Amino acid sequence: MQKFYQIMEEKIKNSLSSIGYSDEFVIITSSNRPDLGEFQYNGVMNLAKIYHQNPRDIADKLVSVLEKDSFFKNVNMAGPGFINLSISDEALINFINHNDYSYEAKNKLIFLDYGGANVAKPLHVGHLRSANIGEALKRLCEYLGYKTISDAHLGDWGRPLGLVIYELSLRNPDWKFFDKDYKGEYERVSITPELLKEVYPYASSKAKDDEDYLNGAREMTKRLQQRERGIFALWQIIMEVSKNDIKNAYDRLNTHFDLYKGESDADEYTSELLDYLNKQNVVIESEGAKVIPVSKDTDKLEIPPMLLIKSDGGILYSTTELATLYERIKNYNPDEIWYVVDKRQELHFTQVFRAAQKSKIIDDNHKLEFIGFGTMNGKDGKPFKTRDGGVMELTTLLEDVKGECLKRLNESIKDNRDNIAEDIMLSTIKYADMLPNTETDYNFDLEKFCSLEGKTGPYILYSTIRMKSLLKKAEEQNLKYDSLKVLRGSFVRDLILTLTNFDNVLMSAFNNKSLNDITDYLYKIATTFNRFYTENIILSESDEDLRSSWLYLTSIVYKVNNILLNILAINVPERM
Ligand code: ARG
Repeated sequence: MQKFYQIMEEKIKNSLSSIGYSDEFVIITSSNRPDLGEFQYNGVMNLAKIYHQNPRDIADKLVSVLEKDSFFKNVNMAGPGFINLSISDEALINFINHNDYSYEAKNKLIFLDYGGANVAKPLHVGHLRSANIGEALKRLCEYLGYKTISDAHLGDWGRPLGLVIYELSLRNPDWKFFDKDYKGEYERVSITPELLKEVYPYASSKAKDDEDYLNGAREMTKRLQQRERGIFALWQIIMEVSKNDIKNAYDRLNTHFDLYKGESDADEYTSELLDYLNKQNVVIESEGAKVIPVSKDTDKLEIPPMLLIKSDGGILYSTTELATLYERIKNYNPDEIWYVVDKRQELHFTQVFRAAQKSKIIDDNHKLEFIGFGTMNGKDGKPFKTRDGGVMELTTLLEDVKGECLKRLNESIKDNRDNIAEDIMLSTIKYADMLPNTETDYNFDLEKFCSLEGKTGPYILYSTIRMKSLLKKAEEQNLKYDSLKVLRGSFVRDLILTLTNFDNVLMSAFNNKSLNDITDYLYKIATTFNRFYTENIILSESDEDLRSSWLYLTSIVYKVNNILLNILAINVPERM
């Protein structure tokens, strides 16, 4: 089914052809002069240049054709040839009664890499944006009909694991895992998430000012990466415990992955990758290390070569990255891969993407997208810390926000307070996180984000629940509605016009990877609905056609709201 703007554009195209002009590049926008019309077509000036004619003459001809179409009303020309259009009641009624908000399945696979939690380290606030933005982009892709595969790409193969295992070896020297000559079965030692939460920060701070300790950890990382039998077995136990913990944390954020793979999975492809790269002749030696040069003449800033193998034989973050890419193309062959990662990692991805192109791991049919997000800082604009100055764990933040939501939750709500507060907390965090442009840093302001007024999650939820309660009351009173019969009442037209923008908003969010288009749109819908709701006394309206029309319109707005909230992975509580 055609979307509303497509229908309008089609009409302009047909009209242009009928008077002998090219119908290429027709774009309609919503009007910035609502006093003159609801929509605008500004293409006439361009046609005038192509055809060497007076734009006002062309516009005159076009207006007289469009005027005959009952879809439009008040077609007029302004200035040098701008065309203003408004939509007839009949066309808007038809739109509300028949528009289809769904999308056809598309034959394109988009692979999304987000999350990026590190095993044996608790999730911290830095992982929040990747989860929120990545999950929403995935849901948007799916809503638009694309096939997706999502991967958490855990950091499970680097230094942090070396640190943890090294510290465990100091605490439990008798464990067989550390005995290189041991050939038997390993005992099932008990490792809890609590233990890991304590061990990693301890080991990491110790390594900062103890050279021997750091070297011990380095050595351990190497033994792990060489897959020494005992170390690998212990690593597997740690992985199992930690992965579970990470999954629970993501579940709480409504964030779900098809794959919980990690850097370690890519490592299995490292030697195959190295063979391949050597055949492609892209690797050179530099100061004992193996690197892939990736700079281009056109670079304004020098892009250093991608490091593949360190001089001591060790591998790096970029090595596993390229191996992961190699594996993904080989096993899934997606059309696009989207990486939702902190924007400070941009250079790393530039190097890896170029190395992949240069070595023909990817070809022109593959598209790689780096979606770098800005930092969430504390209210004062400084890095987010706990009260005692430590790194803020994600759970601490979620609990703080939830506490504030509980405090503000209406006293009259007695049942289910905890679940409701959880949903409101999630809406608060997610909405605030996707409100700024993705690449912009923002400051976390608890008071502001939890407020029931303004551009906040709670405001959007409150408005959505208002729609739902209205529909529920109608049902209780046995008031039926099945279509929009008349277009009358305050803000009814505004509300419908807002809905006509649905497809544009989703397209823009998809093309620009800009979820703020959706958060802004939700706010626009909520404010317009609230005006409509306040100005019209809906349930007690005695004109049955009018009342059922208002109820039907409400049901459509409610449906659209839910679609959008679901894309953002925000739950709607039953009340608040
Ligand atoms: N684990 C990394 C970190 O915490 C993020 C991983 C991002 N994804 C990737 N493909 N590199 O910084």
